[in-house]
Amino acid sequence: MVSSEGLTILKIGGSVITDKKADHGVVKINEIQRIAKEIVGFDGKLIIVHGAGSFGHPQAKRYALNEEFNVIGSVITHLSVKELCNIVVNVLNENGMCALGVHPMCCMLADNGRIKTMFLDQINCMLERGIVPVLHGDVVMDISVGTSVISGDQIVPYLAKHMKTNLLGIGSATEGVLDDKNSTIPVITSKNFDFVKKHIGGSENTDVTGGMLGKVKEMLDLSHNTSITSLIFDAGKPGNIERFLKGERIGTAIMHEQENCRF
Ligand code: IPE
Repeated sequence: MVSSEGLTILKIGGSVITDKKADHGVVKINEIQRIAKEIVGFDGKLIIVHGAGSFGHPQAKRYALNEEFNVIGSVITHLSVKELCNIVVNVLNENGMCALGVHPMCCMLADNGRIKTMFLDQINCMLERGIVPVLHGDVVMDISVGTSVISGDQIVPYLAKHMKTNLLGIGSATEGVLDDKNSTIPVITSKNFDFVKKHIGGSENTDVTGGMLGKVKEMLDLSHNTSITSLIFDAGKPGNIERFLKGERIGTAIMHEQENCRF
């Protein structure tokens, strides 16, 4: 376990910072600017993981990366999401933060679509020195299938499990996890998951990594293995990221069934 006392991990969904309906990378620069302004006042240890949106999903789908190894498709998809990462990092730094991109392709190895190993020491050194590491969903080398598409939703719980994490949030494009009447489900545990999963839709847009149901499953697994509670909330709503960083309970909490929610 890498020491990173008091760590907050925030995922920002690709649908919040890009136009996910587009068939090529289209950035929502005003949203990234707004998010940077909400984050800049936070003075704890923070890791940001952003999604790929239209900088990764359409490319991965075009080259069928989830079906078979494609070297050109893997390179194009990685370079595209790396471009988005550079944009995010630049905006964060222009707004007074000290952020650096950490590309999973360069520090992670997968096995059959799941993270096998990840080099975390440099991330920990960055945190110790006041730098905000910015990771993202990516294409990474995979010892079984060549390359695989690894969602930020898989990276976030991996980091939370291996680094001592206080606060974990998944900023998506809906209020939280919605039921069939579009109301936010306040809490999901393994007890009500079988019931609520019938109502959880996938993503409306091109999404090769599982949409909302994929996020809930990853976070539920994490809560089983570690008792860490995570929040899924609407990062497209101004003020929400700031509220999350202040420790406010917003959106849907995904937690271990015996855990008393700390919020
Ligand atoms: C997807 O990452 C990575 C690629 C398609 C290369 P995410 O699954 O984290 O992206 P979003 O949040 O759904 O856009």
